[in-house]
Amino acid sequence: MMTPALTNLSIQPSHAAGSAREKFDDEQYALWRSLIESRIGMVLPDIQRGLFELRVGDRMRICDLSSASYYQYVQTSAVEWQRLVEDLVVHETAFFRHLPSFELLEQRLPLFKGVVHIWSVGCATGEETWSLAMLAEAHVTQGYSVMASDISDAALATAQVGRYSWRKSERIPLLYRQFCVALPESTQASVAHLFALTRQDWQVSDVLREHVFFHRLNLMDSGQVPFRRLQVIFCQNVLIYFRQFDRRDILDALVQRLEIGGLLVLGPGEMADWDHPAMMRIKHAGTLAYERIK
Ligand SMILES: C[S@@+](CC[C@H](N)C(=O)[O-])C[C@H]1O[C@@H](n2cnc3c(N)ncnc32)[C@H](O)[C@@H]1O
Repeated sequence: MMTPALTNLSIQPSHAAGSAREKFDDEQYALWRSLIESRIGMVLPDIQRGLFELRVGDRMRICDLSSASYYQYVQTSAVEWQRLVEDLVVHETAFFRHLPSFELLEQRLPLFKGVVHIWSVGCATGEETWSLAMLAEAHVTQGYSVMASDISDAALATAQVGRYSWRKSERIPLLYRQFCVALPESTQASVAHLFALTRQDWQVSDVLREHVFFHRLNLMDSGQVPFRRLQVIFCQNVLIYFRQFDRRDILDALVQRLEIGGLLVLGPGEMADWDHPAMMRIKHAGTLAYERIK
């Protein structure tokens, strides 16, 4: 049975003029599903099949390839594969998206001794990452870093720029708005020109920037994660698109990256009924968080 989270997976409808759906038979679609799942973990829900066919159809036409040829090509061309991935992944996010998780960190961050290293897993366009940096800047006394990773180059590019529309700042608690720097009128105009669709009203403060590092990382290669001995791993709304067994493998890999005493803060729907011998569940209302105890 499909989980409710999976039915929310939204492949963006194509805006390309003249786009037409490429209809796959069940066997072809199963091949595509298993290719995508094995490479990036994402399970394509049946409800999104039509949109998926539309997206692949667009790419086939742009590459001027038949269905079978495109299926082969996408597996040999890293560039084309990345283009397809960019079309499939969901970047929905917000500043301070799951408030109880951030409240938990507000309490726990000041208790760490020494420099605090945080990993924002599946950072999308950066709202989660910069929220974590704001918290750390306000509550950590002996230095911090925030590593942020995602599979999407486009999302990472936006995250790194760290400019957002005024609407996005509304979710930021007052205490942390000191880290939002309004863009001067002239800069806004040029940024609006650059990004065409959205008027960007503010950017994250330089105070935060020197602590934040972005990396492209596929969680299905979690054995190759370059981060070690972390105090906080924040993983929300990423694993919900994966199968249970992939979620387990990834969570096991995340645990290995945590220092003893470190925190794993998952989204509430990320992995129900998960336990791990090295992890103790933290009781904090509304959260799904664990502490590494050995
Ligand atoms: C819905 S967003 C969640 C963003 C943020 N964590 C939040 O909760 O607001 C999911 C992100 O996971 C990323 N993602 C999906 N599959 C991935 C994979 N295999 N490896 C790394 N990132 C992945 C997507 O590109 C997307 O930006």
